[in-house]
Amino acid sequence: MPQSGQPRDGRARLLVASNRGPLSFSEQLDGSLVASRGGGGLVSGLMSMEGGDEAVWVCAALSDADRLAARRATDGRLDLDGHDTGGTAVRMLDIDPATFNRAYNAIANSTLWFVHHLLYAIPTAPVFDAPFRREWASYLAYNREFAEALAEDAAPGAKVLVQDYHLTLTPRLLRELRPDLRIGHFTHTPWAPPEYFRVLPAAVARETLLGMLGSDHAGFHSPRWARAFADCCIDVLGAECGEDEGCLTVTCDGHTTRLGIHPLGVDVEGLRERAGQHDVASRLATTRESIGDRQVIVRVDRTELSKNIGRGLLAYAELLRRYPQWRDKVVHVASAYPSRHDLPEYREYTGHVQRLAAEIEDEFGTDDWRPVVLHVTDDYARSLALYRIGDVLLCNPVRDGMNLVAKEVPVLSENGCTVVLSTEAGAADELGAESLLVNPFDVSATADALHEALSMTHEERRARTDRMAVTAGKLPPAQWLADQVSALG
Ligand code: G6P
Repeated sequence: MPQSGQPRDGRARLLVASNRGPLSFSEQLDGSLVASRGGGGLVSGLMSMEGGDEAVWVCAALSDADRLAARRATDGRLDLDGHDTGGTAVRMLDIDPATFNRAYNAIANSTLWFVHHLLYAIPTAPVFDAPFRREWASYLAYNREFAEALAEDAAPGAKVLVQDYHLTLTPRLLRELRPDLRIGHFTHTPWAPPEYFRVLPAAVARETLLGMLGSDHAGFHSPRWARAFADCCIDVLGAECGEDEGCLTVTCDGHTTRLGIHPLGVDVEGLRERAGQHDVASRLATTRESIGDRQVIVRVDRTELSKNIGRGLLAYAELLRRYPQWRDKVVHVASAYPSRHDLPEYREYTGHVQRLAAEIEDEFGTDDWRPVVLHVTDDYARSLALYRIGDVLLCNPVRDGMNLVAKEVPVLSENGCTVVLSTEAGAADELGAESLLVNPFDVSATADALHEALSMTHEERRARTDRMAVTAGKLPPAQWLADQVSALG
């Protein structure tokens, strides 16, 4: 395996494009840049693949420090500028910050994310006015920068895997530039049903779908999301849907896109190795000490509107009210680490969650018992400690493409963990039979499910957890990636 992932002759046979890349930078007081690695699963997946040494990962610079790093490297190629990219060639695009912010914050995160997760408070939002049109133009420009970079780096006939709702327009733009390429797109979120998707201005709805249909293969985590995408194509574009060897297909303007289902799973070995490290063990000891011999209900999420942390806390409060036998016998540890704080909705949501936790503390807390512990800072080792120690996992998103936490917890659980799982998470397709499914809006039903989960015998909990762990490991990131490459023929 080469040290640097420089593709032979500078032209890649395999390309991955995503908004967030495997490296991010921070600038030190002396002006130097420090890199940190993320996106582990995809990096190792890429490198373990045949031809992985001829791959390029194209991503956006997300911060000023990223932009500095991208500018310092020739053509944004971080791997050629001495950065440890895990052996993969990484091209970071130095996109104009105003264009990037409008594309990422206003369109990707405040519009497409809201549409696919059904997050709008409809009486007041969304509002598609003149500023929105400018934001949409920036989203198009940002997608075009990706398409142009991919077109430059791709060898003839190369395969390109475009990721997520940030890059819905790139497949079509790329096909126009390079009709010889095999293009795949993968959506990590749910897809909105047509009635909701139609809140988008007609031209925006059309461009989004046509952009995606520039791909030869469009992947989703769940058949529910693929079906919704096909329904939107029929409804908005008048496209034709069919089936080919068990795959849904969408045909529009003479081009056919196959829809594939690839429910991402867990890298079991990698996760267990990380969770066995010293920092996790030390967090585990502290957490155990504060919980004593009580049961623990855990949750681990980004502080994300779709994760439904608020109704989770309301359900916990209702549990303590209606099933008082659990008072002083259980602790709810909720890790809600920060996310997308450039958006006011997310900052307000953090405050809302903190207020609810304080109310529970006020109503039920005693000198010897803290009923709820809420963490709003990021600490991956602490999250992994919670994965290991939880008796019950509360995972109740209002809607979720997959939800990997629901798969990771059974893999790491020490004593077995009952999963209270939203029917609206993609993970419910595979884990539904072994978990306790809940309607995420039904706080009372969630309280009942928590009671049932806490009351479950150790044997049953263990047996369910073991079966879920097997399911969770079925499609690890490397295989998930390889499947999408082979789906491109
Ligand atoms: C979640 C979603 C992904 C998305 C990512 C972006 O993990 O499931 O679909 O790509 O968030 O998060 P970011 O922090 O980059 O906005």
